[in-house]
Order: sequence, then C-alpha cells, then structure tokens
Amino acid sequence: PAPGWVETTDVIVVGSGVAGLTAALHLREAGLHVTVVTKVNIDEGSTRWAQGGIAAVLDPADTPAAHAYDTEVAGVGLCDPAAVRVLVEEGPARLRELMRIGAEFDRHPDGSLMLTREGGHRADRIVHAGGDATGAEVQRALHAAVRRDPWIRLVEHALVLDLLRAPGDGPGGLGPACGITLHVLGEGSEDGVGALLARAVVLATGGMGQIFSATTNPAVSTGDGVALAMRAGAAVTDVEFVQFHPTALIVPEPARVPGAGHAQQPLVSEALRGEGAYLVDGDGKRFMVGQHELAELAPRDVVAKGIHRVLLATGADHVFLDARHLGGEHLARRFPTIVASCLAIGVDPATDLIPVAPAAHYASGGVRTDLRGQTSIPGLYACGEVACTGVHGANRLASNSLLEGLVFSRRIAEDIARGLPGQAQPAPTGAWVGGGGWVLPPEATPVLQRAMTRGAGVLRSAATLADTARILSELGTGRGLPRTASWEATNLLTVASTLVAAGYARRETRGCHWREDFPTADEAWRGHLVGAVGPDGRL
Ligand code: SIN
Repeated sequence: PAPGWVETTDVIVVGSGVAGLTAALHLREAGLHVTVVTKVNIDEGSTRWAQGGIAAVLDPADTPAAHAYDTEVAGVGLCDPAAVRVLVEEGPARLRELMRIGAEFDRHPDGSLMLTREGGHRADRIVHAGGDATGAEVQRALHAAVRRDPWIRLVEHALVLDLLRAPGDGPGGLGPACGITLHVLGEGSEDGVGALLARAVVLATGGMGQIFSATTNPAVSTGDGVALAMRAGAAVTDVEFVQFHPTALIVPEPARVPGAGHAQQPLVSEALRGEGAYLVDGDGKRFMVGQHELAELAPRDVVAKGIHRVLLATGADHVFLDARHLGGEHLARRFPTIVASCLAIGVDPATDLIPVAPAAHYASGGVRTDLRGQTSIPGLYACGEVACTGVHGANRLASNSLLEGLVFSRRIAEDIARGLPGQAQPAPTGAWVGGGGWVLPPEATPVLQRAMTRGAGVLRSAATLADTARILSELGTGRGLPRTASWEATNLLTVASTLVAAGYARRETRGCHWREDFPTADEAWRGHLVGAVGPDGRL
C-alpha cells in the first residue's frame, strides 16, 4: 500500500542513543538537515543504562596498543585489527569532544579523571560518571546538545518499519537507500504509516537483548535495525555472538512492559569486581580463582561460563557477589545505582551477598559495515550496537561499546558529508514496503524469549538449537494486526531465527558462543558467518 504521508530530509538517523545522537550532531556540523527517528522517547534506549563507563587510553602509562591487545584477546581471533586500531586511536579524541559538549566524568580532587578497570582490561582506562551511572550522563549531555540545535528534527514514538531503496543495478534491480517507512505514534492502526525520504539513512537502533527472557536490555531492544537491514538485503554478520553479562541482579519480578512480555534485569557492573568484589557459590567458595589468570576479572564470556557451570552443577539459579569488604560508605558513593537496585529487593551490599546470574547483554555482531560505517547497501550506514564494525569479534571487551558509538558515528558523518552535497535525492522504487506485510501476534514474544533462553542462551548444542528452531518456525505461522508490539515480535523472530541458524552452523566454542557438543575453538572456524534475506524471503 502507498504510505499515508511522505516527507523529505537530508539524512535520517534511526535511534537516539550514543551512536545516533553523536551522528546527528556531527552531521549538523557539516550543515546537513537531520531527522532523528526514535521508537519511544529520546532517552529510552540502552545508553542510559550503561554503568561501567567508557574505555579510552588517557593514562600516560597506558597505550593504544595495549587497549587493542585487550580488545583482541577478548574477541578471540575474530576482531578486525584495522577496526580495532581506529577504535583505540580515535577514542580519546572523541571522548574529549563529548566532554566539550558537556558530559561530566568523575574526577579526583586534583581535577584528573578517575580511571577504573573491568573484566579483560589489563590497565585502568575506564572513565565513569556519577559513580556507576555513566550512560545516564552521556545520554543527558547528548540529549541537551541535540535539543539546542533547532535544525535537528526529532520524531519520537515512531517505529521504523522498512528501508526504501531506489532503482539500481543491485540484486532485484535495487539501488541505494533512499528513505524509510515508519509508523508514528506507537500503538495505532496501519494508517499511521508514512515515508521519510532522504539521501542517506543511518541505523543506530541498538541491540536485540529482548530475544531472551533474561536480559539487561531495555524493552526497546528488539533487534529492529538488524531485522530491517536483513529485509532490505543488507549483509549481517556474527549474530551468534550475543554476550551474556555475568552479573545481572536476580530480582523476583523484573520490570515488564504490559502485554509485550518485555522484562529488564538490573545490571551489577563489572566495575564492582574491578574494585575488589568477588564471586562465590552457595557455599561461599570463590570459584573463578584457578579458572583464569584474571579470576573474576577474566573476559566476560569466561566469567559467564564459570557461573553457568556452577549453576549446572548445583541446580541453583544464581551465585553471589561479595562486596561487603568494600564498606557501605564506599559502595554508596561509588555504586549508587547498584546499591539502590539491591536495596529495592531487600539486599544491602554492605552486609549481604548480592544474588547474580548471567543475562543477555550485548550483540557483538549485527549489520556488517566497513571502517566508514557503510553497510553493503549504498547510502545505508550503521553504528553502535546494531552494527558489526569488526571491533568486538566473538566477545566485546567491557566499556568498548559507548566508545564504538562515539568513534564510528563521527566517521559516518564525515563520509556522508563528503559524498552528499552533489548527490540528488533518489526516488524510491514503485513497490512500497512496510505496513503491508504479515506480522506476528505479540503473544509470540514471551514464548520466543523463553525458547531462546532455554535453547540458544549461554550454553547451546545442536539438539537445543534444533529444538529452538522448531519452536520459532511454529511461532512464524501466527498472524497479528499491524501494531508496534506485533512489528517488534516480527523483528524478534527474524533476529532470533538468524542467531539460531548461525549458532547451529558454527560447530565450535568461541567467545560468547558456547557449544556443549563442540567445547573448544577450532581454527577452521576462525571466520565470520554472513547472512542476508534473499529475494524469496528466506535466510
Ligand atoms: C558493566 O558496567 O559491567 C557493563 C559495561 C559494559 O557493558 O561494557
């Protein structure tokens, strides 16, 4: 069907976290008219929930090469060294720019930045804000800067549906990206679907943690960008590498979005372990000592596996973090967010053990990009968690994600600014997509989430993945009405099915992809699985 309305802008940025808002600000520096489209409100994404901080080489005793080394060790052979070099070398300058636009990080009394450490880092190189509320400060500063610029148009409560492409010589006669279809006003009928045309589209839609029932991601992280890119024919890669944060707080009833089955578990930052807390099992024994030279500060996948082994061996649903020796005063000052989450469930970290277990946290893979953030479709860019720039490999190093958003969004803005001025606005192909295809009923979401956690979560095998694939395929026969929750359920099914297919294909254990039936890394698998949806709609 034709869209109900059509508008035009220079560049569309989809998403309003660190990657999207930084891209918008840099695009404005180039004098372009930018429209930021975001699904709920500007602050609703993952950025504001980030606790630990931003990793960047600021200490004279530290080096970009050391940061690159730690990043590549964590990524277990799958990082792209060129992308990592860009990240670690450009990171400090991007962080300083963020401070110039108003972000305030924690400082020592002499004014120098406080630097801490998290899993996988061999140096103190992580800046933080408000103790453990770094993401909230980053979001606050970027939000304020975007609001100050009258030439950035912000469209909130607008779910992006599909990419529009101009005619061209790509597969299916399709050419460059030339806009999006979107549904404005959240819940509502199909009538709200319109088209926004532009000369470039930047995806910054965040992650896909909501494909699992246990996740630290907010309700909006439903894989919309990856699903849209796949439907448009863009290459995605490394989707099997979803990172499980070792220490999500076990809460009796995680906050839920009514009717949608979306829950979010509070994070207990690695910085708490970085500053001395340790993990114990139900008998009070430290089980990470002896498993890795860095014990509780081993890379995230190693710690998540260590915890999962204890859970399997004991039948418990959680282990504990012991932070009591850090003292109530220090905990309250340095980790106010975590202390508040604990107190809300009756746990005082100064006197009690903190119940924790792994939960889905970060998609290391996503829409494949080059070093300029370009996807395989001309005019379509991706940055932040939705993208796979190559910096994370099989497992992201702690506190590299906000950094990646800062670094690659700027590169995208530079690339667009270089190529756009002389380029005419392409017209879309005759076939409008979005709003007309089939959608799943929202009731599919909790079923999908439980199946994914059971069969494609921290530990996987051919049998559990095949079982999950069967459940997903049965869910795919359901039909819902065109509503936000249904479109989200449809996107969740697309990305979950892709993850299961890739996880089944990768017959090895590497980074955060842990196969019970192939428990070691295999050199033959030191490569990337790349997928797209073909013209017949199949993966
Ligand atoms: C944390 O604070 O433990 C999370 C930081 C990250 O995900 O990089």
